[in-house]
Amino acid sequence: MRRSWPDADSCDDRAASVMTSSQRRFDVIRPARLLIGVIGAILVFLSVGATTAQIDSRMPEGPNRALVARKCLSCHDASNFVGTAGRSRAAWDVKIDDMILYGMNITPEERALVLDYLATYLPP
Ligand code: HEC
Repeated sequence: MRRSWPDADSCDDRAASVMTSSQRRFDVIRPARLLIGVIGAILVFLSVGATTAQIDSRMPEGPNRALVARKCLSCHDASNFVGTAGRSRAAWDVKIDDMILYGMNITPEERALVLDYLATYLPP
């Protein structure tokens, strides 16, 4: 009686019944495929997380919300700046400088957009 392998249709029948090495190949290939699947799933999860999940739902809708999320949620969560009393434009301006001192990377253009968002949507 011919032995049937769990994954026999993806494999040459003749080779499976004759060659013992194909059995060994199965042992290696099946966990390898599983591993590739798991890694793929993790990568998809991470890329989705990087583009969407980082926007905190407490952040008001508005232009450049995603940019602000990208810039401001890399070191701490949004609790630092949403749900607080809010700030005037001048105070946000100073606060952004504080964050730059903490090590935030931001171009002058991005800084202006982030300041607009904060001053408009998180006022005192
Ligand atoms: C390079 C890391 C980093 C980035 C990026 C960053 N912060 Fe901060 N932030 C800190 C650190 C460090 C503190 C002080 C410790 C704490 O409260 O977690 C802080 C605290 C704060 C506080 C509360 C403390 C205070 O002085 O009132 C606010 C508000 C704040 N951040 C806003 C922002 C905003 C808005 C952005 C985006 C423009 C931002 N942060 C981006 C590191 C960062």
